[in-house]
Amino acid sequence: MEAERLEQLRAQFSAEAAGIDSESAASALRDRWTGRKSGLLTAEMKTLGKLSPDVRREFGLQLNALKDEVDGRIAELLSGFGARREAEQLVRERIDVTLPGRRQSSGRLHPITLMRERIEEIFVSMGYTIEDGPEIETDFYNFDALNIPPSHPARSSQDTLYLENGLALRSQTSTVQIHAMQRRRPPLRVIAPGRVYRRDTPDATHNPMFFQVEGLLVDRRVTLGDLKGTLGEFVRRMFGPGTRTRFRPSYFPFTEPSAEVDYSCFKCGGAGCRICKGSGWIELGGSGLVHPNVLRAVAIDPEEFSGFAFGLGIDRMCGLMYDLDDIRLLYENDARFLEQFR
Ligand code: DAH
Repeated sequence: MEAERLEQLRAQFSAEAAGIDSESAASALRDRWTGRKSGLLTAEMKTLGKLSPDVRREFGLQLNALKDEVDGRIAELLSGFGARREAEQLVRERIDVTLPGRRQSSGRLHPITLMRERIEEIFVSMGYTIEDGPEIETDFYNFDALNIPPSHPARSSQDTLYLENGLALRSQTSTVQIHAMQRRRPPLRVIAPGRVYRRDTPDATHNPMFFQVEGLLVDRRVTLGDLKGTLGEFVRRMFGPGTRTRFRPSYFPFTEPSAEVDYSCFKCGGAGCRICKGSGWIELGGSGLVHPNVLRAVAIDPEEFSGFAFGLGIDRMCGLMYDLDDIRLLYENDARFLEQFR
């Protein structure tokens, strides 16, 4: 009777083993047959104690032999599936060491950043420090402290971008002059590069956001000669040792006297070319001696101190130096354009 039972178990196992098609099914089969708690063969072993010694001996031996067969078959199944899994993984993760490498493209600095850094370098070497100020300003910093009268057109919402709460986006970096003089007392020399905003329709030469760099020097007995010497040195360092400057009388509320500054064309040296539109001169920016009212607004005594200031357009310099025919290229972030600069 025990012999029959053994044959039945053996047949059942080999039927089940034949249907195993995965590694997890093989381990389930192992648990079902030889699991320590409820394995079919384990249960069978536990019945041995109830048999008479003779039968127990014989049946025990045969049961052990069956257990060895079962263990062997399951080990075979498991290692077969394991080997297949490993082989598949090897294929999946195969590395072809003969493939050519992928070139990593490295980032570049934006042309405006490059230009700003060159400007900063020159002024820092002349003893200037770099100042920063907010891009959102009150009327005090935007206009009042800069001696811009309430009726001035720059204050109109046609030119200035106002926010809901009466604040405005600064339309010139001249605002940082005020912050700088509030933060530190003269003598001082600062430059302040940064973004400015104007209500402009974008075209080839305008963008509602652009970059300026402001300069301010306040000390005792500062004259127009100091301003001319400083900007003269700047253009020689920036555009070449032969570069000349030209000052044209102008008007700005925060300077008196005021001047527009031109420099001789870096391309043709002044003979006239496409870059300088035939005039031989290129506009650098506005400048002048700091208006006494501006000094008073930050409680500096204009009898004791005087200063000069200037404001230059970084984008315009970029446009000319890199010969761009549309300044909007600077703001479109087209990598094909940007990666040409270093
Ligand atoms: N803020 C002027 C502008 O945006 C430029 C300027 C002119 C700045 C004269 C100055 C200055 O500091 O003295 O057009």
